[in-house]
Amino acid sequence: MSAKIIDGKQVSTEVRERVADQVAEFIASGGHQPVLATVLVGDDPASHVYVANKIKACEAVGIGSVHHELPAETSQDDLLTLVRALGDDDGVDGILVQLPPPDHIDPDAVIAAIDPAKDVDGLTATSAGLLVGGRPGLVSCTPAGVIELLDHAGTELEGAEAVIVGRSNLVGKPLISLLLARNATVTAAHSRTRDLPAVCRRADVLIAAVGVPELLGAEHVKPGATVIDVGINRTDDGLKGDVDFEAVSEIAGAITPVPGGVGPMTIAMLMVNTLAAAKSRSKQS
Ligand code: GUN
Repeated sequence: MSAKIIDGKQVSTEVRERVADQVAEFIASGGHQPVLATVLVGDDPASHVYVANKIKACEAVGIGSVHHELPAETSQDDLLTLVRALGDDDGVDGILVQLPPPDHIDPDAVIAAIDPAKDVDGLTATSAGLLVGGRPGLVSCTPAGVIELLDHAGTELEGAEAVIVGRSNLVGKPLISLLLARNATVTAAHSRTRDLPAVCRRADVLIAAVGVPELLGAEHVKPGATVIDVGINRTDDGLKGDVDFEAVSEIAGAITPVPGGVGPMTIAMLMVNTLAAAKSRSKQS
C-alpha cells in the first residue's frame, strides 16, 4: 500500500477539542452556553444510535442539548408545530431533526419549518442558497467534514481538478460550491456520466458520494490523487465505501478508510455549526 491514510477519527477528535476550547472562550467572554435541540420521530434503531451519539458529543464539548422523542405515529402537523416552536425558542441555537422521518411525514416540509438561523444541518433552502452564493451560512456537516479532511491532509485545492461522483443535495451539490469557493476546477459526475473512469482519472481530488459499494476502482484513479470516500454501504461482507480501498490505496497519494474516514467528521462538524449558530444569534440579539 502506498497511499497515506487520512484518519477521520483523529481529525474529528482534534475538531471537537477545538470546539470545546472555543465554547469555553465564548462563555468566558460573556456568551451563553450554546444549545442543540434534537428531534427524533419513531423507533428506527440506527437513528436512535445516531442521535444518542450527537447528544454525547454535545456534552463532551460543553454544548447543552434538549432532546424531543416523538412516537412513530406523530402527525406531520404536530412535528411541524414542534420544529417551529424550537425556532421561536430563544434558548435553542441549533435544530436537528433526525432523518428520515416515518413514511407519512414529508421530509421537505420538516426541513422548510426549520429556522435557517438554527439550521445546523445546513439543509434548508436558505442555507443552500447562501452556500451557492458564496455567502456565510451554515454548511451541511458531511461536506464540511470532507473539506476539513482535505485541509488536514494538506491537499492543495487552488487550481486542482476536483471530481465529485454523486450529486445528492446533502453531499454532492454542497461540495460543488465548497470546492469552487476554494478555487478548484470542479466536475460533478453521476450515473449518466459517459466514461466515468476517464472523468475520474482527471482528478487530483476524487470524492465518491454515490452509495454504491466499491464503485470506484484502480481504473478510476490518477496516481497520487487524494481520494475521499463518503460512502457507507452495508454489505454481506460488512461496511464498504464507494471506493475499492484495497485496489485504490495502491495508486492514490492519500485516501480515507471506511469506516473511520468521513463518518466521524459529521458529528464534529455539527458541533462546529452549533457553536457558529450560537455566536451568530448572540451578535444579532
Ligand atoms: N440521518 C442520517 N444522517 C443525517 C444527518 O446528517 N442529519 C440528519 N438530520 N439526519 C440524518
